[in-house]
Amino acid sequence: MKFTNGIEIIGLEEIPLIKKHDDIPNIILESLRKMGLSLLDGDIIVIAQSIISKSNGRTINLKSITPSEESLELYNLISSKAKKLGLPIKDPKLIQLILSESKEIIKAEHVLITETNHGFVCADAGIDKSNVDGKDVVSLLPENPDHDAEKIRKELKRKTFKDVAVIISDSFGRSFRVGAVGVAIGVSGINPILDMRGKKDLFDYELQSTIIGQVDSLASAAQLVMGESNEGLPIVLIRGYKFEFNENTTIKPLLRKKDIDLFRESIHKKLVDCMKSRRSYKFPFKDKRVDRNTINECIEIARWAPSAHNGQYWRYIIIEKLELREKLINLMNQKLRNDLTNDGKSEVFIENKLNKTRKNFLDAPVLVLLCLDIIELEKYPDKERLENEFILGVQSISSSATYLLLAFEIKKLAACWYCAPLFAKDIIKETLNLPKSYVPMAFFTVGYPIKSVPAPPRKKLQEIIYEINI
Ligand SMILES: Cc1cc2nc3c(=O)[nH]c(=O)nc-3n(C[C@H](O)[C@H](O)[C@H](O)COP(=O)(O)O)c2cc1C
Repeated sequence: MKFTNGIEIIGLEEIPLIKKHDDIPNIILESLRKMGLSLLDGDIIVIAQSIISKSNGRTINLKSITPSEESLELYNLISSKAKKLGLPIKDPKLIQLILSESKEIIKAEHVLITETNHGFVCADAGIDKSNVDGKDVVSLLPENPDHDAEKIRKELKRKTFKDVAVIISDSFGRSFRVGAVGVAIGVSGINPILDMRGKKDLFDYELQSTIIGQVDSLASAAQLVMGESNEGLPIVLIRGYKFEFNENTTIKPLLRKKDIDLFRESIHKKLVDCMKSRRSYKFPFKDKRVDRNTINECIEIARWAPSAHNGQYWRYIIIEKLELREKLINLMNQKLRNDLTNDGKSEVFIENKLNKTRKNFLDAPVLVLLCLDIIELEKYPDKERLENEFILGVQSISSSATYLLLAFEIKKLAACWYCAPLFAKDIIKETLNLPKSYVPMAFFTVGYPIKSVPAPPRKKLQEIIYEINI
């Protein structure tokens, strides 16, 4: 029986070990001839990157590399992580090479994920030790795989008059799934993607977003025959796959644009997003316990804030016992009532304010008090320097408070900074039996939010940057 919907995947045999300047099209045709095959229109030739790199002279001996300071730093960073996981440690020379083959480091963990100069996101910038002769010799990705594919396609056409497609392939590991698969890194004669949008499915529904990465599927199919180790089949013929021949193609449409790449968030963008999405949360919290460990982890981050003379004058007190919190708020409110009465405020106003304070500080799942410990501030004989020293203490603990709020944001906790403790320092110190040198400065209500808070307006840059006109 003759099947009409299948494709054939044929490894080309007797491909010699490739050297610089070898004529790949000739090698392909020679192998086909020996196998009793000839090219047909619509055939696809998939070629392993390693042999293109070798024929282009894109191999390099690591011994010839001098690692830069940046690569040594990266080495220190990733080797400790790799060691912990029992994974092989990368040579700083290899790291240097990865850096020079990359535009951007995307992740530097136990592996290095970078964006190569071509725009591929992969481990180690595609630099490979396997199937390369010489102990310290590695292969780099071809400089322009599209161009290599086109050159080979055109030469095959010139010699056989057949319109074939050429795919240069490599194998990349994947995010979210274990196991490397074949991917295309250069194409000629075939569109890298198959845009199915607007076509109908089995049930006559119009497809809205289906885009098939057809050259990656073809590269993966070829990989099954190529193998990864010593199979010696770096060139594969795929026959019977129906595609639209196109002379003007490039791998580029397959590369997801940075601004719509969900998995590509740079550390820089994450940090900016976190800083800009933090809000002062003044609404009721979810009825969900906040783990003490989570709070401790946030305070651990807050510890890394800058402080004058590295004094780290911040002291955090987590007020857990409800009765204690209640006693404290009642006493604070008594003082607040006196203060507001003395200010001449109306009873309605006062009641409103007291209820708000009660609600804020009693209903929050966690209440954190921040104190300034003045014990380590420098002592001066004059008032001005003494005052300034106090201010720098306040400034320092404020930077820690900001770190704390950002840490909450990272943990998806909501929080608000309240200055009420400033107005009830003695009551707080006495009720909580705090050391003498502690100055209560702020409360943070913390919990899981039930809603998102719109960003309050921000002043324009021109309003906050004062230009000197001298
Ligand atoms: C030092 C300081 C003290 C604050 N005290 C209070 C307060 O007592 N009551 C309150 O409702 N919000 C307080 N806030 C929160 C501010 O109102 C809030 O940060 C500001 O409106 C900006 O909103 P955002 O944090 O959502 O950007 C305080 C913020 C800071 C930095």
